[in-house]
Amino acid sequence: MKGLILSGGSGRRLRPLTHTSAKQLVPIANKPILHYVVEDLVSVGITDIGIVVGDTADEVRASVGDGSRWGAEVTYLEQEAPLGLAHAVLVARPFLADAPFAMYLGDNMFEDSLDEVVAGFEESGEAARLLLAHVDDPTAFGVADVDAAGRIVALEEKPADPPSDLALVGVYLFDARIHAAVDAIEPSARGELEITDAIQRLLEDGAPVAHRVLEGWWIDTGKKDPLLECNRLVLDALAGDGVVVDDEATVVDATLVGPVVVAAGARIVDATVGPSVAVGAGCRIESSTVDHSVLMEGSSVVGHHRVTASVLGREAAVVGSGAAVPSDLSVLLGDHSVVDVHGPAEESTGG
Ligand code: TTP
Repeated sequence: MKGLILSGGSGRRLRPLTHTSAKQLVPIANKPILHYVVEDLVSVGITDIGIVVGDTADEVRASVGDGSRWGAEVTYLEQEAPLGLAHAVLVARPFLADAPFAMYLGDNMFEDSLDEVVAGFEESGEAARLLLAHVDDPTAFGVADVDAAGRIVALEEKPADPPSDLALVGVYLFDARIHAAVDAIEPSARGELEITDAIQRLLEDGAPVAHRVLEGWWIDTGKKDPLLECNRLVLDALAGDGVVVDDEATVVDATLVGPVVVAAGARIVDATVGPSVAVGAGCRIESSTVDHSVLMEGSSVVGHHRVTASVLGREAAVVGSGAAVPSDLSVLLGDHSVVDVHGPAEESTGG
């Protein structure tokens, strides 16, 4: 079985962070999401992996390389524009040939291992096996209509009147029959070749489409709050209520409230950090409080009362004017952005 990771796309919902970098490379607990995805596939024995890339191809290549560090072999597949998940399958066809494959959205993270999802698929005769999860707001997803016998009878993309609360989530298993289905569909109203339409086609052709319902958490990290929630969950699993500080980090006169991870070269001085904070390599936190946040490489928080529920891009900076700044700050900052916050006693510079 081959793996197909989708790492193109535009990442509109994480702008400005994704103006300059790939959303699949945002770190969760200091490791890029895409690395978790590769590890997940490798852990179930899938090592022949194609990665669909778009505008951020160079950055993705630089981060993942040839896959040898995981014992995998990675092939990059260029998609000229994010024209839909089924379009990505189309682009990948020369790589996939007739092999069954697991398609994995490169910005999705799962608590459960893929073991049970993948087990027995190749022998099953199924044309597709979908992963479903109960969600609060099915209108935002592709939703499965499941009959009394537990079979999927139809799929609807972002239905106004959802037939169930079972949404399609970011892992799909297919055999070679998906290619004819992709050939048979037309772009949707939003101009994309939708994978739900291709699967609907399989259903209409009478091909067996099975599913598994996810038990553990699943997060589409493509927006700030889910990203932070994912960071919190992974940190909980990694550090419990503990702190993991790299030997090459400096922590002076600081209180770390776990779970917290601190990467090499970071400097935390006269600060309270945590819970649920990932401090990236070379970050600086001084005279500040930071909680529930992701600080990417080289970013800094200096002299600010409290930064919470924030994502700071690489080399981004929040600068306060000391303890006089009373307000909580919650921001999503792109790489190299600077936010300069003044206390009420000072002239505000706005912005
Ligand atoms: P989405 O989150 O559906 O799309 P997006 O990246 O364009 O995000 P946004 O809505 O914020 O603009 O994509 C799911 C994953 O699949 C994501 O990792 C990007 C990837 N993808 C491709 O590789 N090619 C595509 O054509 C599309 C639509 C997505």
